[in-house]
Amino acid sequence: MTTKDLYLAWMNDAYALEKNIEEALERHADQAKDYPEIRQKINQHLATTREHAELVRECIERNGGNVSGFKKGMANIVGAVTGAASGLAKDTLIKNALAEYSSEHLEMASYHSLMNAANTIGDMQTARVCERILDDEQQMARWLEQQIPMITNLELERVREEEMSR
Ligand SMILES: [Fe+2]
Repeated sequence: MTTKDLYLAWMNDAYALEKNIEEALERHADQAKDYPEIRQKINQHLATTREHAELVRECIERNGGNVSGFKKGMANIVGAVTGAASGLAKDTLIKNALAEYSSEHLEMASYHSLMNAANTIGDMQTARVCERILDDEQQMARWLEQQIPMITNLELERVREEEMSR
């Protein structure tokens, strides 16, 4: 394995991560249909995530690689996180928020690492892309952090109402 191979493999991990999160967010947007504000934010981040995947793909191709075998590696980790919520669970909304919060942090860690690799290798264009994506992920993580208490209470309130009506 060459340094270039390793670098391309890391970029492919980031790409796989974005594609997996894209799938999860599509599902989460659907499941948040009764909560327009949350749904809108998820859809907004879904568009950003698609943009990120394209940006990373461009970095891979600029470095002479391709994204063909992308379902491997890091994708399995995020699958374990984003797959945690079942559509049948009553508390899907908070489970999804927790999965997204975890995913954002996994992405932040990945882009920190990748940005460092890009700087070391001298691929300044990729380093700038990582910096920009990192900023988007941090913003989403902050939004989730603010929303999680509210979503938690929403879930509690719903079950409490069910209890009262029994
Ligand atoms: Fe992203």
